[in-house]
Amino acid sequence: MENQRPQTVPRVLIFPMPAQGHVNPMLKLAELLAMSGIHITFLNTDHIHNRLIKYTDIETRYSKYTGFIFRTISDGLDEDHPRKGKLVWDIVHSLHQKAKPVLKEMLVSGQLGSGDSPSVTYMISDGLFGEFTIDVGEELGIPTVHFRCSSACYFWSYFFFPRLLESGEIPITNMDKLISSVPGMESFLRARDLPSMCRVTDVTTDQTLHMVHEVTYQSHRARALILNTFEDLEGPIVRRITEFCPNIYTIGPLHTHLNVRLAQNSKWSSDQSSNNLYDEDRSCLTWLDSQPPHSVIYVSFGSITVVSKAELLEFWYGLVNSKQRFLWVMPPDMVLGEDGENSVPADLEEATRERGCMVGYAPQEQVLAHSAVGGFLTHSGWNSTLESIGAGVPMICWPYFGDQQINSRFVSQVWNLGLDMKDVCDRKVVEKMVNDLMVERRREFAESTAEMARLAKRSVNEGGPSYSNLERLIQDIISCWTN
Ligand code: UDX
Repeated sequence: MENQRPQTVPRVLIFPMPAQGHVNPMLKLAELLAMSGIHITFLNTDHIHNRLIKYTDIETRYSKYTGFIFRTISDGLDEDHPRKGKLVWDIVHSLHQKAKPVLKEMLVSGQLGSGDSPSVTYMISDGLFGEFTIDVGEELGIPTVHFRCSSACYFWSYFFFPRLLESGEIPITNMDKLISSVPGMESFLRARDLPSMCRVTDVTTDQTLHMVHEVTYQSHRARALILNTFEDLEGPIVRRITEFCPNIYTIGPLHTHLNVRLAQNSKWSSDQSSNNLYDEDRSCLTWLDSQPPHSVIYVSFGSITVVSKAELLEFWYGLVNSKQRFLWVMPPDMVLGEDGENSVPADLEEATRERGCMVGYAPQEQVLAHSAVGGFLTHSGWNSTLESIGAGVPMICWPYFGDQQINSRFVSQVWNLGLDMKDVCDRKVVEKMVNDLMVERRREFAESTAEMARLAKRSVNEGGPSYSNLERLIQDIISCWTN
């Protein structure tokens, strides 16, 4: 490797899967490491970086950390590819096919270093990149760690894909049948709660199903595995994963972790900036200011979900008929056009004016922390789930794909933090669940969510397991550089 100047500080390359739910937590991890003096190279795809530049202040925000640089790489897709809905898997397939030689060349040529840290001494790659980042790390002698942005329960379930096939539990024939092939989940995991990739008819040819199993399995080759979770939430499952990946750093919830450390250290001012790929509409915070405490259900299906016009109307009628106040995030590209019919029934418009607020994208962490919010209708993306847990807000889960099917089962059955509405999109069910969450079972969920929020905070405070694991990771990065 080219080494123009002596290396006086370790440099960590952080390479996320190019999607909102991955870039966001990996930027938070990058910031936590940068606070300890480690130099960071954050590698985005051009598409993601352009959006971050357009909608956030990331370049100035992270420039306060010495040695923090951004670099970009192509995702190999045409610029007009939607990168949305289930087509996000195209990005993973494309990077698997094309990125390895480019990444290697970038590392060898010194493009990923700067100043006092011209070389990358440690790599934290998205676990979805599977073998290709580990291969590059091995070829160049760079210790490489996998970061999986999803839940531990999802990660664990994917190890058992061959067993699910052998036992005939996939392809799925009965969605309500209990699954016996995933150890530790036999008493509550139904076929419909398995990762959505298991819902295929032809298991032999489905590329995504096999790819996700393969990348999960590859994590055993990584130096370690980082998970955005915490001991009191998923400790028992994390211990099972150590059979495959002996060294695991659970350092979550990352957003709480970062907020706590920023607040403790006056050198790094804590601001309200986001890492969002859409234009945030902060006017919803003003709207929330004028609503009574715990009266609003916040509705957001994350950055990838797409819904049909018919589904949209079921949700909308359900919310309106529940008579509860609602704040609904509807990104511009969320609704699939079916028939060019874009008009909204007048009764919905009127009820929305009376007790609703709609925005294209919200400052979600702040919304969930607002005292007016009493519930969250969510797609159960892992970041959204952790953000809701951190804020002590109960959830109604309507999972879309990937890990969300299993996350929602854990939210409702294992942690008792809300209700699971998966595979149903019916205005009567929406209305009933909203009222159950916000009124009928409010007290029950208030207790369970407050307790889990307390445990989340405890885990990232000094002496807590996530806090100690981050310290351990920092020590590993330093020792890999000095040895
Ligand atoms: C995806 C997967 O869905 C998720 O399950 C996986 O674990 C990570 O990648 P996404 O669908 O975008 O992510 O959902 P989620 O994980 O919840 O991440 C969305 C992020 O965008 C959250 O951090 C959320 O706070 C933020 N967001 C979303 C906003 O800030 N404002 C919004 O209006 C919507």
